[in-house]
Amino acid sequence: MMNNLLKGKKGIIFGALNPDSIAWKVAVRAHEEGATVTLSNTPVAIRMGETNKLGEQINAEVIGADATNVEDLENLIKKSMEVLGGKIDFILHSIGMSPNVRKGRHYSDLDYNYLDKTLDVSAVSFHKVLQVARKMDAINEWGSVVALSYVAAQRSFFGYNDMADAKALLESIARSFGYIYGRERNVRVNTISQSPTITTAGNGVKGFDRLLDFAERMSPLGNATGDECADYCITLFSDLTKKVTMQNLFHDGGFSNMGMSLRALEQYEKGLDKICACDNDKPHADEHRYD
Ligand SMILES: NC(=O)c1ccc[n+]([C@@H]2O[C@H](COP(=O)([O-])OP(=O)(O)OC[C@H]3O[C@@H](n4cnc5c(N)ncnc54)[C@H](O)[C@@H]3O)[C@@H](O)[C@H]2O)c1
Repeated sequence: MMNNLLKGKKGIIFGALNPDSIAWKVAVRAHEEGATVTLSNTPVAIRMGETNKLGEQINAEVIGADATNVEDLENLIKKSMEVLGGKIDFILHSIGMSPNVRKGRHYSDLDYNYLDKTLDVSAVSFHKVLQVARKMDAINEWGSVVALSYVAAQRSFFGYNDMADAKALLESIARSFGYIYGRERNVRVNTISQSPTITTAGNGVKGFDRLLDFAERMSPLGNATGDECADYCITLFSDLTKKVTMQNLFHDGGFSNMGMSLRALEQYEKGLDKICACDNDKPHADEHRYD
């Protein structure tokens, strides 16, 4: 449904790798709602992925930037203002990556160089985007900056690994920077905590198909899809949410406030006759039965 909610607005969208990417869906919806945007991703993702195809589809310039690199971000923001013809109204940070997850490192056996990378890519990059944008005075008054998070920032989730720590930091940055940017320039900063969604990053999480099924059974409204997440992002970029800032907003069909649902319980009961490995003796320190 098109409502011209972003008519005349200018945005930067990070993280559209392929049509499954949440950022891809946000870019398409932003275009439909009347915004003009630039798209950004790492040079390697642009080469290997389909960001350029999206650029052609919505007539958006694609500008390469590693979001952990301040110079790249300065260049991206400068070029975006040139291409779009002025200051930016909204930014989507839709970036996540954990080398520990990729390499199968267990949370009790993290590689700390990888952890630094996880935190830099998935959380500190959000601070860098905000800091560079503020120093360049690149965001219009009442602009809106959104990053995507996950409920593992608040609760422990099997297999989410060091990404949980990255999401906790990401949400904290939204609060800390949201205060500064709000006071100074009326710019709002929020995170959206999204349901599990089938994407390249999502599929990297251990046991993802079962997590998706569990969340679906637990959520009274069912899992929120990537398209629905895009709709939610549009509302936060629009002028209809001008006083929403420093929030972590759950977009998860109600999952985050559930304890147990009938649908999940019934499924659990079906498997009660099977003995789970967790019932056996305590594992040794080097076994990762509870990962
Ligand atoms: N898929 C899910 O289940 C889910 C749920 C909640 C939150 N999220 C979050 O949504 C966001 C988008 O992920 P997605 O699920 O659409 O997957 P995705 O794999 O499509 O997107 C992740 C993007 O991050 C980009 N990226 C990685 N390193 C980068 C860097 N150094 N600089 C710039 N970009 C970089 C990748 O190229 C990719 O485009 C992530 O923050 C993710 O944690 C995803």
